[in-house]
Amino acid sequence: MLERPRRNRTSEAVRSMVRETRLSLDNLIFPLFLVDGNGQRQPIASLPGIARLSQDNALREVEQCMNLGLRSFVLFPAVEDALKDREATYSWSRDNFYLRIIRQVKKEFPECCLASDVAMDPYSSDGHDGLVENGNIVNDDTLPILARMAVAQAEAGIDIIGPSDMMDGRVGYLREAMDQAGHSQVGIMSYCAKYASAMYGPFRDALSSAPKFGDKKTYQMDPANQREALREAALDEAEGADFLMVKPALMYLDVIHLLSEHTALPIAAYNVSGEYAMLKAAAERGWLDHDRAMNEMLLSIRRAGATAILTYFAKEYAEKAVGR
Ligand code: PBG
Repeated sequence: MLERPRRNRTSEAVRSMVRETRLSLDNLIFPLFLVDGNGQRQPIASLPGIARLSQDNALREVEQCMNLGLRSFVLFPAVEDALKDREATYSWSRDNFYLRIIRQVKKEFPECCLASDVAMDPYSSDGHDGLVENGNIVNDDTLPILARMAVAQAEAGIDIIGPSDMMDGRVGYLREAMDQAGHSQVGIMSYCAKYASAMYGPFRDALSSAPKFGDKKTYQMDPANQREALREAALDEAEGADFLMVKPALMYLDVIHLLSEHTALPIAAYNVSGEYAMLKAAAERGWLDHDRAMNEMLLSIRRAGATAILTYFAKEYAEKAVGR
């Protein structure tokens, strides 16, 4: 035999020399759930190890992560039901705690990178990402609401906005609104190929943001479709997106790969709440080796072509990577 592929696997030294993909903390973005108030650290049953944090604890969490070498975060607000309404007005209100926390984190840790969520669902009494009229999620009347939300986040100091709503034309609309408000340096990480997935359950528990009626299938993509992601990607790129996101990640590695071959923009992948919960549950029962499976999951997302990975594993990965 002339060819013996096993020769390149004989020792860790050789294996690491020929290793094609590496995962660095620089690639990871850690989602944080935020609540109003003080001294709050509310565990989320379906997301073991993850909690809703008030400002004081969020600042502590960011500091710990920064010390581990993890410096990018995506922030989500858990808003009281009493503050939700049809038009998500709390999202740009002056005394919004989410905007206050953004301001404070950027003040204390100017070198961190903060990404936001732009969508109506955390603030909407209907629990939908867009405005509801007569039982329909209307597209064009949602855009000005998203723009007010995005500009408020930019004013608070966000580095990158993350429109996750899947309305048509919102990337271009938000780019223009932010530019006009003097925020041309704030980036857009567009949730470009976001699927109507069963994997968002634990996230909706965390925010109590499940839709009050129906589902999200008229705006999020059909899990059966791959080529349609190319159409979304072309539009978002033309409208000025700085990153294209695929979400969820693990069941859509083909889409990550496809988009990475069709764009020069960095690809972000969201390793969503259900993907995290599945591994935590299996590991808790002793059915999977947690750390090995975690490493393999994150590596597979990188190998598929993602540059950035939004993952609830980020801090744990960082803690364990430091010890290695
Ligand atoms: C909604 C939003 C969702 C997630 C991020 N932004 C849920 C949804 O679309 O219903 C899910 C993230 C996760 O499951 O980890 N704008």
